[in-house]
Amino acid sequence: MNAAGSLRGRLAICPGSFDPVTLGHLDIIRRAAKMFDQVIVAVLVNPGKNPSFTVEERMDMLRRSVDGIGNVTVECFDGLLADYTRQKGAQVIVRGLRAVTDFEYEFQMALANRKMNGNIDTVFLTTSAEYMYLSSSMVKSIACFGGDISDFVPACICREISERLCLPAYRRQPDDVSK
Ligand code: PNS
Repeated sequence: MNAAGSLRGRLAICPGSFDPVTLGHLDIIRRAAKMFDQVIVAVLVNPGKNPSFTVEERMDMLRRSVDGIGNVTVECFDGLLADYTRQKGAQVIVRGLRAVTDFEYEFQMALANRKMNGNIDTVFLTTSAEYMYLSSSMVKSIACFGGDISDFVPACICREISERLCLPAYRRQPDDVSK
């Protein structure tokens, strides 16, 4: 809270891999944008995690997905989140919580980040019920077998993800209604 006891005036960071962004992520970003004056969606440059999309692709998909939300910008970061938040002068990290199983890891991360940057607080937003089961890895595994991901990712990036990830054996032909 600032001196006025408000979340207003605060810069919040929504960090993640976003490989790719899902409707669950977008829901959290939209809600964070209503709570804070400025929100930076920060994409982790994580070569170690062997992402399916490059950092530029992930940022581009995010930018198109948040188009129209005036106080949200998309950036990327390398290294420690605590260092990045310090460099940006942010006061808040926003993370979505889907289930109790997320909590232990998120709690550990929040404590470690606060130990490394005493000026940062982590705010957890509970996921909207319709996105409780949703994750980037689930989207990728459906897309690679030619499944319909339109209920899971923003419409503007749906086709691009499907075309990119669908394995050749599962590609639908225009006149094929069997798959
Ligand atoms: O979308 P994800 O993969 O759940 O996001 C995880 C992320 C990017 C928030 C986390 O891995 C992270 O902050 N990585 C940066 C390195 C770091 O700061 N590690 C220490 C955190 S305790």
